Amino acid sequence: MNRTGPLPAESLRSLVRVREPGAEDDSLVRLNRNERLQPLPEWFLERLRSAVASELLTGYPVADRVYAALAEAVSLDRSQLLLTPGSDAAAKALYHAYVEPGDGVVMLDPSYAMYRVYAEMFAGEVTAVPFENLDGIDVERVLAAIRPGVKLVMIANPNQPTGTLLPEDALLDVVRRALDVDALVAVDEAYYPFSGTTILPHVAEFPNLVVLRSFSKAAGLAGARIGYSAANAAVIDDLFKVRSVHDVNAFAMACAAEVLAHPSVIDDYVEEVRRGEQVLRERAAELGLAVPQSYANFVLVDVGARVAPALLVERLRERGYLVRGPFSTPPLESYIRVTLGPPAVMEGFCAALAAAVESGG
Ligand SMILES: Cc1ncc(COP(=O)(O)O)c(C=O)c1O
Repeated sequence: MNRTGPLPAESLRSLVRVREPGAEDDSLVRLNRNERLQPLPEWFLERLRSAVASELLTGYPVADRVYAALAEAVSLDRSQLLLTPGSDAAAKALYHAYVEPGDGVVMLDPSYAMYRVYAEMFAGEVTAVPFENLDGIDVERVLAAIRPGVKLVMIANPNQPTGTLLPEDALLDVVRRALDVDALVAVDEAYYPFSGTTILPHVAEFPNLVVLRSFSKAAGLAGARIGYSAANAAVIDDLFKVRSVHDVNAFAMACAAEVLAHPSVIDDYVEEVRRGEQVLRERAAELGLAVPQSYANFVLVDVGARVAPALLVERLRERGYLVRGPFSTPPLESYIRVTLGPPAVMEGFCAALAAAVESGG
């Protein structure tokens, strides 16, 4: 780009702006962002409305109430927890606090796209461990990538967009190996409520383990921007140092506190997603489309034998549905990624999918 005026830091010069969702998507059903696809219950919204007193907006946020609820929910001390504006902000803070130019960063490939963006921003050297198939990642290859010089290992579990899950034993091997080379392991559990599998109880045991959680997915608070990290108090202190002050807003904290007080908001939605997944699996089987196992609120659908994924994504958009794809990273070239929601949403989508596939895409 031709520009005048001051240049940004060297590591930013080749970075491009991430695309923001735009209003042109408003009339479409968004099965492309892994958001909650069912409105929050009316009684819950009513509680949030009554939480909006003037002082909530006029004063700087006070986090005591939500930290107390969180500490109780996850059986950790407040010193082991840090609220962030989404789990994404925690991922960025990890790079900011731990990665210096040239330091090694290990991640799965494909995985949550921002891990690479932040690596570039902080000039980390990425080692990406590829998926050979969608049965899961080979943990031996992850272990082999964790060599001296690696400072950070980012593992989304379940991983996105693959939907795969590393079992606890394998993750603990990764954490131990990382400890040998003085690296931090971040296990990003943004989709935890859907998998029901967590490594969080182990943060007390390992000084190099940090677990990231999000209220954006099952709890349905993507717009409020709130998540948290759980780790050894020293790691939490480091993350605290790089955050911008008052970064989590008071309304987001009030929303999260209500979710923590009413876990049924999450549990009921997880159940809806399971039922919706059943619908999608049945319809996909009728269409002869394979849907690998997923531990999150999205699935990959192998459409490639019937229609080019790029074309299908376009045809689905014309029929009112946004999905993610096409993918260029192996082994995803023949897949689209579809966010799961309640059965009614999945029924509508499956009708559109059948029409789009049967019309030759
Ligand atoms: C694996 C993973 N981690 C983190 C995030 C970001 O979530 P949040 O809204 O909490 O920042 C996402 C969002 O899609 C994700 O897929």
